[in-house]
Amino acid sequence: MDAAAWDARYTGSDLVWGAAPNQFVAAELGELPPGRIIDLACGEGRNAVWLATRGWRATGVDFSTAAVLRADRLAADAGVTDRVTFALGDVVDGPLPTGPFDAVVVAYLQLPAPRRRTALRRAAGLLAAGGTMLVVAHDSDNITHGVGGPQDPAVLYAPNDVTNDLADRPDLVVEKAEQVHRPVPGPDGERTAVDVLVRVRRAIS
Ligand SMILES: C[S@@+](CC[C@H](N)C(=O)[O-])C[C@H]1O[C@@H](n2cnc3c(N)ncnc32)[C@H](O)[C@@H]1O
Repeated sequence: MDAAAWDARYTGSDLVWGAAPNQFVAAELGELPPGRIIDLACGEGRNAVWLATRGWRATGVDFSTAAVLRADRLAADAGVTDRVTFALGDVVDGPLPTGPFDAVVVAYLQLPAPRRRTALRRAAGLLAAGGTMLVVAHDSDNITHGVGGPQDPAVLYAPNDVTNDLADRPDLVVEKAEQVHRPVPGPDGERTAVDVLVRVRRAIS
């Protein structure tokens, strides 16, 4: 989907992804000491805003104007406009904010492999020594037995796709690379989405 398609997705009255943080972002980053964090493809800002409420200085980037406007509003509603800024930008092709960051989040950025690889390598390039990068995504297994995300196999991936994308960085230590399950409420009861969760830490040389 291009930026215009995402803008169209964000025109309804409700937040598409809700105001609460993604459960894996909260679990994996919630206990880290706050520092500078960047959320790439931040959408409506749920993760960056939540992290700002936890003391982080957060930056979010998304190429959808509608998403960034919504993220600004979410930050205002949460009273954290002094701790979080949102910028319009393409995380594959465009300029990115200046690092380093103590943490980098990439959540549900579903792109064909070459663009995903570029985005993830750029994301890793923003990490400070000792910093943590968290990637959460819709897993390829959702095609056969899950409910999460797009049904296009070309933009779904697996934990080892992420670690392979980052394999040229020997300074990155893979702390977690696994499939995780996320309950999704539906009209006929709860179903399960299969997600990718990869957490890496940049070694302190
Ligand atoms: C499924 S949403 C996830 C939003 C957010 N990370 C979250 O978890 O709530 C994917 C987001 O990626 C953004 N996106 C897709 N491709 C992008 C690109 N090349 N540069 C910046 N943002 C992009 C879309 O605009 C959309 O907001």
